[in-house]
Amino acid sequence: MSDPRPIGVFDSGVGGLTVLRELQRQLPHESTIYFADLGHFPYGPRYQAQVRTFALNIIRFLEKLDVKLVVIACNTATAAALNTARELFDIPIIGVITPGAEAAVAATKNKRVGVISTEGTMQSQEYLHAIREANPTIGVLPKAAPQLVDLVEAGKSDAPETETVLREALRDIIDYHADTLILGCTHYPLLTPVIKKITGDTMTIVDSADTTAARVKRVLAKNGLESAEAQTANHQIYVTGSPDRFTDVARILFGQDLPPITTVRLELVEAISGREGAA
Ligand code: DGL
Repeated sequence: MSDPRPIGVFDSGVGGLTVLRELQRQLPHESTIYFADLGHFPYGPRYQAQVRTFALNIIRFLEKLDVKLVVIACNTATAAALNTARELFDIPIIGVITPGAEAAVAATKNKRVGVISTEGTMQSQEYLHAIREANPTIGVLPKAAPQLVDLVEAGKSDAPETETVLREALRDIIDYHADTLILGCTHYPLLTPVIKKITGDTMTIVDSADTTAARVKRVLAKNGLESAEAQTANHQIYVTGSPDRFTDVARILFGQDLPPITTVRLELVEAISGREGAA
């Protein structure tokens, strides 16, 4: 038995594309639909209840497109909506926080882990919970770096101002002597070269892209949802809001292989999902 339906993946912007890229690498026969909620970007500074509403609307929209599994490729939305989404939907929903936390637990030797993320993810303390569940003796120093998401989305990942913001965000984590750093926002892997320039080889940098993709692979296999090896994968992107800046940054990640982009109106997403959006 094989299941040719696509995997749905969503984020507020380009960040989740780092997860999508890894999914396509590890699961080359699976079709995907990526949804970027540019009209509501950024999620990080918003109230959790509002992000939850956006996320549930997007999952309903993806469900109407007949996806077989959803990846919440956004830490902020994972923190806000994963548990509720699992209560409401009958398809597997995978978040990015537990896979990232488990990778950090496996990597740390001195039991000190730093986490950089949006404000929403930091407030939720979900990384602390996931790490402590795996190993309660590991110390965690979380740090919110709200400006970084805008800088990445604006295509300024290697700009001098980005390095200044990163140095400030990482200072306490460096002083804490963390040997492992979780990139607790799916936008941050685009900053890895600058982060490495600042931290040198003092820290193992962990992002959730490959561990999340590995989890998706396991869940598909366990639930008999894998596509046939002979299937040619088909990829699509939907965005709310203007795709201009999104397309520029997305091209850095996907080049010629960037899937076609369709713009959908927010009201349509809300109407299809049958719920009001709390914009
Ligand atoms: N990429 C999202 C995350 O992983 C955050 C971006 C935003 O603030 O919208 O948390």
